[in-house]
Amino acid sequence: MCGIVGYIGNEQAAPVLIDGLSRLEYRGYDSAGVAVFNGQRLEVVKSKGKLAVLSDMIHGGADIKGTVGIGHTRWATHGAPSDTNAHPHLSTSERFAVIHNGIIENYMELKNKLISRGVSFVSDTDTEVIAQMVEYYYNGDIFDTMVKVLNRVEGSYALGVIDRDNPDEIVAVRKDSPLIIGVAENGYFIASDVPAILNRTREVYYPDEKEIIFLHRDGVTIYNFDHEAVEKELVHIDWDADAAEKGGYEHFMIKEIMEQPKAIADTIESRIKDGRVRLDDIELTAQQISDIDKIYIVACGSAYHVGMVGKYVLERLVKKTVDVDLASEFRYRSPLVTDKTLVIVISQSGETADTRAAMAEAKKLGARTLAVVNVLGSSIAKAADDVIYTWAGPEIAVATTKAYSCQLAVLYLLGIYMAQETGLLSAEEEIEMLRELLSLPGKIQSILDKRDDIQYYASLHYNEKNIFFIGRNLDYAVSLEGSLKLKEISYIHSEAYAAGELKHGTISLIEDGTLVVAVATQDRLFDKTMSNVVEVISRGATTLGVSKETRSDIRNTCDFAFLVPETDDLFMPSLSVIPLQLFGYYVASMKGCDIDKPRNLAKSVTVE
Ligand code: M6R
Repeated sequence: MCGIVGYIGNEQAAPVLIDGLSRLEYRGYDSAGVAVFNGQRLEVVKSKGKLAVLSDMIHGGADIKGTVGIGHTRWATHGAPSDTNAHPHLSTSERFAVIHNGIIENYMELKNKLISRGVSFVSDTDTEVIAQMVEYYYNGDIFDTMVKVLNRVEGSYALGVIDRDNPDEIVAVRKDSPLIIGVAENGYFIASDVPAILNRTREVYYPDEKEIIFLHRDGVTIYNFDHEAVEKELVHIDWDADAAEKGGYEHFMIKEIMEQPKAIADTIESRIKDGRVRLDDIELTAQQISDIDKIYIVACGSAYHVGMVGKYVLERLVKKTVDVDLASEFRYRSPLVTDKTLVIVISQSGETADTRAAMAEAKKLGARTLAVVNVLGSSIAKAADDVIYTWAGPEIAVATTKAYSCQLAVLYLLGIYMAQETGLLSAEEEIEMLRELLSLPGKIQSILDKRDDIQYYASLHYNEKNIFFIGRNLDYAVSLEGSLKLKEISYIHSEAYAAGELKHGTISLIEDGTLVVAVATQDRLFDKTMSNVVEVISRGATTLGVSKETRSDIRNTCDFAFLVPETDDLFMPSLSVIPLQLFGYYVASMKGCDIDKPRNLAKSVTVE
């Protein structure tokens, strides 16, 4: 969704802003703009479409002179994508410029009030209301003015404001939308996310909700709404230097697919010691685990698919009932939550609006909340009772791969930990499981080493109109993810079905040549799934089977098979998802799709 960058310092601001915005392109956007104080006025340049259009208009920023500015990539919510609706927005006298990520829910009421007092508007956006309110309520003191404005605003925001008449300052504030502050040698930054500024600094503050931040050329000060100075810890970001770069790969997605062995090793290895899982990050005692009456796993998109795997894992290991819910459904369905319920929320970004709201609802109902999150200091991480971070590093491609895999790894760790703490696993069983878990990175690497086979298969099928995925239990959960990966980046219509459900309706969609991908890694369900494969073959389907090396007999049934190494059936999703990610990637690549930024999608979905 929208991306924010602001800079004040010794360098020319416009090129810095364009560079920072280019590093936020992955978030998804449809227009872009910058505002820079040029010594006399706030010079605003904005354009619908790609950032490259804006960059060309100002020669990469060289045309605008000035060392303080704010920039924005907009993902349209209120008002169509257009030059006028693009941010920054100016107040009527052009004194204040504002960028905003989030939604001002009561903007209509605020707008009408200002209109009745003679203020006129030029855009359809909710954000312009903020620019006009700052000007309308300005009383000579910007802190006071911001508090006055924000006390009237309902909704979510990360805001950056500059004042033509006090151009040595950027004012910023956040509520329910991400915002970080970067401290560099040559100046200070605000940004929606770390990758925007990682090439300039690794020192970052994570402001809390409703703290007003003042960036000057010589430092940053942060106040709460009572105007008391707030001390913050400067956090050092220790990602690899090339973590937010493509590093020679054609797309971030394939780079991130290839990074999975390391990402999973980083996520699990430090949490396994002496044959036991150590989750020092959380406080969940044996007694608290025993007391849990029910577990909900709540998430969106791929993170929800991880939750589907998590259900099987936790039910099998921890022997508790687990319900998996889409966050957008959970929040509106009066779930039966008590103070003995554990609600696990999963989110790469830690900012997904539905997941945040679902977690807030669960907390309100008294549940204990545990978040599995990738982005340090994100809203969900801050609000949860406990957090287990996935150490996937920055994930830039919209289609998640390494974060998905690390989330799976965390759920395995959590399941083993809860079983270990409550005596449900013998020492031998635990050592065996952990040995298997630790072997996953190497096994994933061996699958990646055979990626040419998948690339070849993709070259035969990139023109398909429909592709179906089938599987049972854990294989069904993985099928859902394989199908989403394929459709979100290649735009090929795809559905995933529990294999046993086919004959209850879906099988009527199978016709001559329809491609069906059958995931069959679970020994006890293998024959059942093969029967379903035979059913589709006899209706004309072409089939790709995904199974494990010990089930090479899948070749007797499927037209083509990809076999992953053997592991405990419970951990199979970590391996079987890899060929499906690669298949989606290569199909989309052969179709020439914009893989890292698929149409209509955003990396971090911060609106409902
Ligand atoms: O940041 P989150 O993990 O909360 O995001 C949830 C979904 O939006 C996300 O997994 C989405 O489905 C991915 N684009 C799928 O690749």
